Amino acid sequence: MNIAAGANQAWQRRSVHSIWHPCTQMQRAATVPPLPIASGKGPWLFDHEGRRYFDATSSWWVNLFGHADARINAALKDQLDRLPHVMLAGCTHAPAVELAERLSALTGGVLGHCFFASDGASAVEIALKMSFHHWRNLGQVDKREFVCLRQGYHGETLGALAVTDVAVFRDAYDPLLMRAHQVMSPDARQAALGETTIDVAARAATALQQLFESRHEHIAALIVEPLVQGAAGMAMYDAAYLSAARALCDRYGVHLIADEIAVGCGRTGSFFACEQAAVWPDFVCLSKGISGGTLPLSLVLTRDHIYEVFLDHDVARGFLHSHSYSGNALACRAALAVLDRFEQDGVLLNNRQRAAELTAALAPLQEDGRIEHFRHKGMIWAFDVCEGYAGERFAERFHLAGRERELLIRPIARTVYLMPPYVLDDDLSVWLAQRLIDTLDAVARNAYADRTPESPTA
Ligand SMILES: Cc1ncc(COP(=O)(O)O)c(C=O)c1O
Repeated sequence: MNIAAGANQAWQRRSVHSIWHPCTQMQRAATVPPLPIASGKGPWLFDHEGRRYFDATSSWWVNLFGHADARINAALKDQLDRLPHVMLAGCTHAPAVELAERLSALTGGVLGHCFFASDGASAVEIALKMSFHHWRNLGQVDKREFVCLRQGYHGETLGALAVTDVAVFRDAYDPLLMRAHQVMSPDARQAALGETTIDVAARAATALQQLFESRHEHIAALIVEPLVQGAAGMAMYDAAYLSAARALCDRYGVHLIADEIAVGCGRTGSFFACEQAAVWPDFVCLSKGISGGTLPLSLVLTRDHIYEVFLDHDVARGFLHSHSYSGNALACRAALAVLDRFEQDGVLLNNRQRAAELTAALAPLQEDGRIEHFRHKGMIWAFDVCEGYAGERFAERFHLAGRERELLIRPIARTVYLMPPYVLDDDLSVWLAQRLIDTLDAVARNAYADRTPESPTA
């Protein structure tokens, strides 16, 4: 039964009149009106008229345990009555201290200090500034260049955008950005005939070495998204690249920044993606899933020897960066509840079983001639729809067709991906795979038909 006929439309109209939506060409709002969501529970979102949608990308990869998780909510409610916020300059509080301690412990104590911020991009800014300032404090003032990977994405503030290589986000602002070195991505899709993913990683590492050889005295840091380059289209690569990059950074005196904002918190199968290469970077950026999709929180973990380089009588040699909500107590408490869930529920182990089930349910796609590069890492699945089947505005049409099938999904160009919350079960996996394939059938078939000679649009 329609529980509030017209309510969706009313919210859509008001939204478009008042909100400038992120990552959206607002001119398209009439064709693709924002989905008005009234509530969420587990992997489901509900609109104002009682329809449900499976959140197939965990709301931009943040809702690790789905929506309105009871345990995270209980922790938040408790914290709300004690201390929602206090500034972290000159004060401290238990949730921030405990979170810093527990995250450090997850690195085996290698990364001993934690600097808090709010959004992912601000964590990236912090890591870049810390790296530069560390070298500066050591008298190496020429080390002020950064290296990033082609297809990398690190956020959209000006510093983060400068080390990002996704044209649609970057190009308009290019004149404003500092120059960074872009080196070959180890994206496994570039494998030539007979090449393995490790061969591609080795080629990319050679390109990095060549740059370091000529410029290392000027280079402060290399920044990477470990194992999966998310926003560029879930480009996956072999862990061998991370090991090689770590060795090269050590050899040439360059910091390694691991942007684990998207891939951290178990998304690739280990808590930190870098663990799969058995390396620790000099800086780890975390955000998104760490607060379980409740409140904005980001942080940068770094090694104690880097932290110590900032200790001085001179205030200006300290790291004076700050945000008003740095280390917000509510957000930190939510993050502690997220870590509790990892510990108490054996999340990483359970996810392996869930991933196997969903991979099995998606098996028909691996043989599907309309797609290429079916790939999977931990709790991320992706494939690229072949150009002949994608057609114009593929991502938009797929998204709309998904909505009709109870799926909230947003492809990146021709790449369709799933980053579901960690609350799947066998039945849900089968359902999800079937709805995904149904959506592909609806969209890819139409695109193909559009391109046949008898089509009026051909
Ligand atoms: C790898 C990576 N770094 C940084 C960011 C930026 O995070 P935020 O959108 O919270 O600023 C993102 C966001 O998608 C990301 O995927």
